[in-house]
Amino acid sequence: MVHGGPEALEIVDLPEVHAGPGQVRVRIYAAAVNPTDTMARNGSRAEQQKVDPPPYVPGMDAAGIVDEVGDGVSTGVRVGDAVMAMVVPKGSHGAYREQVVLQARAVVPAPAGTTHVEACTLPMNGLTARQSLDLLDLSPGQTLAVTGAAGAYGGYVVQLAKAEGLTVIADASEVDHALVAALGADIVVRRGNDVATRILEHFPHGVDGLADGAVLNEKVIPTVRDGGAFTSVRGFVGAPQRGITFTVTSVRTYDGDFEKLDRLRQLVESRALTLRVAATYPPERVGEAHRRLEAGGTRGRLVMTF
Ligand SMILES: NC(=O)c1ccc[n+]([C@@H]2O[C@H](COP(=O)([O-])OP(=O)(O)OC[C@H]3O[C@@H](n4cnc5c(N)ncnc54)[C@H](OP(=O)(O)O)[C@@H]3O)[C@@H](O)[C@H]2O)c1
Repeated sequence: MVHGGPEALEIVDLPEVHAGPGQVRVRIYAAAVNPTDTMARNGSRAEQQKVDPPPYVPGMDAAGIVDEVGDGVSTGVRVGDAVMAMVVPKGSHGAYREQVVLQARAVVPAPAGTTHVEACTLPMNGLTARQSLDLLDLSPGQTLAVTGAAGAYGGYVVQLAKAEGLTVIADASEVDHALVAALGADIVVRRGNDVATRILEHFPHGVDGLADGAVLNEKVIPTVRDGGAFTSVRGFVGAPQRGITFTVTSVRTYDGDFEKLDRLRQLVESRALTLRVAATYPPERVGEAHRRLEAGGTRGRLVMTF
């Protein structure tokens, strides 16, 4: 792929890759389609990508079967295991390919009883939600607001927060109200640019923390109490004010954190986390999946299957 609209996605032949020491090769059977892939495709990540020659292979979420294990791997993974992984794309290394070589610690058993299609929806957004909660550093009983709660990231934030004993207020459109409530949000308010007003109706002094999956940025700073915490997902950092701690969630720094991804696996197995799939696409139709994701309104992840 070179950069462009969804039509720029094309099938290319790449040379076989092999697992070196400390690495694992995965035959990928399913790769989730995420908003970041559309940015890798349309060139808004060109600055980061240009160090490598095209073709560029997007994709950060993979599930499949291990088919090579390099020397010195100590995570217990074996050839034939069903696994999932976050892939940090670089050049032609990405999750939209049949075969990928990863550091062993990035490769974790898929949750028992899940298909490749389901399992691939967990790693990247699950780890992002995990990192947001780690950065917010809240304690049981404290309050968390989540915007974009119907989305993949927002949904995992809501579910992880509930598993940790937080009180969650989340936004949703009318049509998604029941979905977000089912994910466990204690209070669901109508989404919109004025969502801060509705959150403050419930928590007049503000919430302890906010995870801004809808990228509302300044508009939702007023919902955070003095001395509270705000984490963004697209690099936003608010101007210093009222003792609020602003952090930027950036999941790439959790690449290779075996324990964190394995903990997410356990939470799926104990049904604390729900894997949501909207539809599957063969590689030759992945452009349609990009178009559909960019149009908004998708609930559950779109997944490419090989
Ligand atoms: N920094 C990182 O490491 C990292 C990692 C993962 C994700 N992200 C970012 O996190 C964001 C969420 O990702 P995702 O995969 O969860 O996307 P998603 O599944 O598309 O979810 C986004 C959700 O926000 C909703 N939304 C859009 N505008 C809104 C508004 N004004 N108010 C409230 N909700 C609104 C969307 O609804 P509609 O579909 O109806 O528009 C959708 O339900 C994206 O910007 C993504 O790039 C960052």
